[in-house]
Amino acid sequence: MKPYRFPIQTISHILKQKINSVPITVYGYIKTVRSQKQMTFIEINDGSSSTGLQSIIDSTKLPTIKLSTGCTVRLQGTMVSSPNRKQSVELVVDKLELLGDAIDYPLHKGRIPIETLRDHQHLRSRSNLFGAIWRIRNTLVSSIHAFFQSQEFTHVHPPILTTSDCEGGGESFEVVGGNTFFGKNVYMSVSSQLHLEVLTHALSRVYALNPAFRAEPSDSTRHLAEFWMVEAEMAYLTNLDSLLDFIEAQIRFSIQSILNTSLQDLEFCDGFVQPGLLDMLQGLVENPFGRMTYTKAIELLSLKKEWHYPVQWGLPLQTEHEKYLAEEIQHGPLFITDYPTVVKPFYMKQNHNKTTVACTDLIFPKWGEVVGGSVREDRLDILKENIHYHKLSREEYRWYVDVRRYGSVPMSGYGLGLERLLGICTGIGNIRDLVPFPRVHGSCRY
Ligand code: 4AD
Ligand code: MG
Repeated sequence: MKPYRFPIQTISHILKQKINSVPITVYGYIKTVRSQKQMTFIEINDGSSSTGLQSIIDSTKLPTIKLSTGCTVRLQGTMVSSPNRKQSVELVVDKLELLGDAIDYPLHKGRIPIETLRDHQHLRSRSNLFGAIWRIRNTLVSSIHAFFQSQEFTHVHPPILTTSDCEGGGESFEVVGGNTFFGKNVYMSVSSQLHLEVLTHALSRVYALNPAFRAEPSDSTRHLAEFWMVEAEMAYLTNLDSLLDFIEAQIRFSIQSILNTSLQDLEFCDGFVQPGLLDMLQGLVENPFGRMTYTKAIELLSLKKEWHYPVQWGLPLQTEHEKYLAEEIQHGPLFITDYPTVVKPFYMKQNHNKTTVACTDLIFPKWGEVVGGSVREDRLDILKENIHYHKLSREEYRWYVDVRRYGSVPMSGYGLGLERLLGICTGIGNIRDLVPFPRVHGSCRY
C-alpha cells in the first residue's frame, strides 16, 4: 500500500528538512511583521514548532490590506539559506494570500505574562509557550501508551458516569437528571480504579487514560475540577516494592521519551520557564527515586516545629509536609509508603500489623503528590469489613466485592495525575496552564 502523506507541510517539517532553493507553500498565523520601504519581514507559525518561519517579501507585492500579528496567511515562495544568524533558512515569498484577517488582535507581539494569557484561553495556544506545552503533553501521552503497550497491558475504557465514589471522599459531581434518567443518583467518575480492577480479573494487566472529576473546593495551583489520570491495575504483582519499581520505570520512560522527541520544546521551557529544567529531567532519568515509610516521614517532620497543619502519626500528610520531604530531605522524588489505615481508602491491602496499609504516595518537589497507589485488598472477608468500617453502602459496592468472591485476583495498581507530571516536565507551576481549558473551583469558562 502506498503510504499516505498529508498534503500540507508543517513548518516544523520544513525547518527540519533545511530545504534549499525549493519552491514551497506554507500556511500559518503571523507572529510578527516588520515593514521597511522595500522589504517586509514576516514570521509565521502553525503550532508545529517553537521556532517560527522567517519570510521576506517585496513590499510592493503585498496586498493593499494591512498585515498584522494574528492574521492567517498562505505563502508561496522559495526556501533559501539565511544571512541572519538567528535562523539557518528563510522563505523568500513570491505570493502572499490573506486567509484570515485579525483586526485589533488582543495579544500583542511581545512577551506576554502567563497570567495575562490565562484570560485569553481561546487564543493563548498560539503563543510559543503554549504551543510547546501542548506538544510536550502530546509526547507524554504517546510515551505512556508506548510504555504500557511494551509491557503487554490492554488499554481499556472504563465509564465516566458511575454510581460509586471510588475514593470515598464525597467529592463527586452529581449528574443533573441522573435520577430521572437512570432511576438512581449518578456521578462523574473521580477515578476509574474500581472498574479497572474488575477488568484486571479478566485481562490481568489493564490501564486507562481518562478524565477524572473532583468537586474539591480548593483554589490551589495543583487542583483541577477536571483532570486526566493514568491508571493501571496489575494482576499478581503483590509486592509493594515491585509496584514502586514499576511506577518509577513508567515515569522514567516518559521523561526519556520527551528528552528524545521534544528536545527543542524542552529547551524553550528551560530558557523561558525554568532554567536548569533539562538537567533536572536528565537527573530524574538517571537517579533512583527515594523511598521512605510514613512512620519515618512523621519522625523527620516532628524534628521541625513550625507547621501550619499538625504532624502526628495517624493524621494525613499535608502539601507543606510533602513538599518539605521532597525538597529539603530528598531533593527529588520520594515514595512514601505504608500509611495508617485510617487515612487511606477501603480498597488498600492491610499490612500484617493491621495498623498500616501497603500503599504509596509519590511526592515531587514543588508539586507534592503526583501518584497514589497500593496493593489491593483481595481477601473477601477483610474487604467486607473495610466497607463496613468506612461506612460505605454494601449495595453500591456489591459488584466490586462480587469479583473477589469468584476467583479473587491478588493485584496492585495506581493513578498518576497527568497534568502534575506535565508540570514537572515543563517547569510550569500552575495547573491551570497545563490543560488547554482549565475547569477549577469557581471558574468554568469556554
Ligand atoms: O491519589 P488519588 O486520589 O488516587 C486515586 O484516585 C486512586 N483511585 C488512583 C488509583 O489507584 N487508580 O489521585 C491520583 C493522582 C494524584 O496523585 C494526583 O496526581 C492526581 O491524581 N490528582 C489530581 N490532579 C489534578 N487535580 C486534582 N484535583 C487531582 N486530584 C488528584
Ligand atoms: Mg492520593
